[in-house]
Order: sequence, then structure tokens, then C-alpha cells
Amino acid sequence: MARISETPEDTSAEDMNAQAHAARLKDEVLRADPETIRLLLTEARSHNGWTQKPVSEDTLRELYNLMKWGPTSMNQQPARYVFVASAQEKQRLGKCVYGSNADKILSAPVTAIITYDLDFWKTLSRVFPHEPKAVDYFRGNDEAIFDDAFRNGTLQGAYFMFAARALGLDCGPISGFKKSEVDAEFLHGTAQHTNFLCCLGYADTEKLFRRLPRLEFDEVARII
Ligand SMILES: Cc1cc2nc3c(=O)[nH]c(=O)nc-3n(C[C@H](O)[C@H](O)[C@H](O)COP(=O)(O)O)c2cc1C
Repeated sequence: MARISETPEDTSAEDMNAQAHAARLKDEVLRADPETIRLLLTEARSHNGWTQKPVSEDTLRELYNLMKWGPTSMNQQPARYVFVASAQEKQRLGKCVYGSNADKILSAPVTAIITYDLDFWKTLSRVFPHEPKAVDYFRGNDEAIFDDAFRNGTLQGAYFMFAARALGLDCGPISGFKKSEVDAEFLHGTAQHTNFLCCLGYADTEKLFRRLPRLEFDEVARII
């Protein structure tokens, strides 16, 4: 089956409203201010150590309600999150990671298990309602399900980290974990798979190493 078009065919009053809203944003906000750019990118770091300052459930909900606005194909939103916050669950997660990543998880106030859900397509009739055929496109199409879940779930992981930084939180992403163990321990009975882990909290900057170099534009990009 051909992939579904993502653009509705007719324009409703709701669409006109959305267009006016987007135009107003472009009039009112031209670009992020320099402090925000420092906070999100040029001076933001991946952290290894954590202060004892807690992260509340309200903050986690605020974080989700910010990152959820990041775009995904067909508005799929395949990422799911397990916030590991109790001492007991941190111990369990700490056993599923390599080397010093265990200490990071034990000392961080919260570590998010960021997963992608292979059942994401079952909610498309709610989140992509103008195209009822979208569900049929994915039903039984394991390759498309995995590609879309992993692609968009990974993007949502990035939105998650930038939303956290926007709220003044620090992130410590971790890919040094045993996927089969994290999946078995925390995602048993679901169609979810672990993408990566992300410690969250307020950084102990004394645990930071030097900033590593980034590749230059001309090494990684070409304009054709
Ligand atoms: C998805 C992802 C997984 C990562 N996994 C680990 C990890 O397992 N252990 C670790 O110490 N750092 C890990 N890092 C941190 C990277 O090494 C770090 O982001 C990179 O060196 C850039 O550092 P900076 O953000 O401080 O400039 C990971 C980063 C990302 C985005």
C-alpha cells in the first residue's frame, strides 16, 4: 500500500485559525534570544554528576507537556517514557547498564527510559483523524512500523532533552545499557523497546569533562 498523504484535502475554519496563529508567531517572535541559544545548545553539556536537588512529578509533567509539541511523521508520537525515580527501581536499572553509567543512574534524581512503541499506529485514528486509512497502512507492515517508531521515537528523545534544557534541567543521555535486560525488566508485556536512557536533574558540574570538538559545516554538509 502506498504511503498515506499527510496533508488534508479541504480547509476548515479550524485550519484558518491555525494559519492566523502561525502568522502571529512569525510576526511576534523572530528567533530565540542569545541566552536561550546558550542554554539549549552552545553552552549546554551532557552531564555525568548530579546534585541532590530533586525533580518533582510536576516538573516531569511540565517537561512532557513541552516536548510533546515536537513534530513526528503523521503525528505518530511513538515514544513512551518510564521515569525511574525510586531508590529500588534505580538499583534495578543500574544493574542493566555498563560501567560508570550505574553510578550516574544511582545519583541522578530521575532517569527516563525513553522507548518506542511498536503499537503506536493503533492511536492514529485519534492523533491523525483526517486520514482513516493510516491505520490500515501500518497493520501487518512490520518494516514500516519499526522504521517509523524508531525514527520518530528517536526524534522525540531529542525533543525531550531540549525541552528539559529549556526548563533549566540537565540531561545525561546513556546508550551504554543492555537493551534486552532493560526491556525485560521494565517493558515486559508491552510492545515498547528501549531507545536510550536519560538521567535528569540539576548537574554537579565538577563531574564534567572537557567539551569535545564538533565537525565543521564543510565536512558534513553540501549545498546542491
Ligand atoms: C543517545 C546518547 C547516548 C549517550 N550514551 C552515553 C553513555 O552511555 N555514557 C556516557 O558517558 N555518555 C553518553 N552520551 C554522552 C555523549 O558522549 C555526549 O553527549 C557527547 O560527547 C557530547 O558531549 P557534550 O554534550 O557535553 O558536548 C550519550 C549521548 C547521547 C546523545
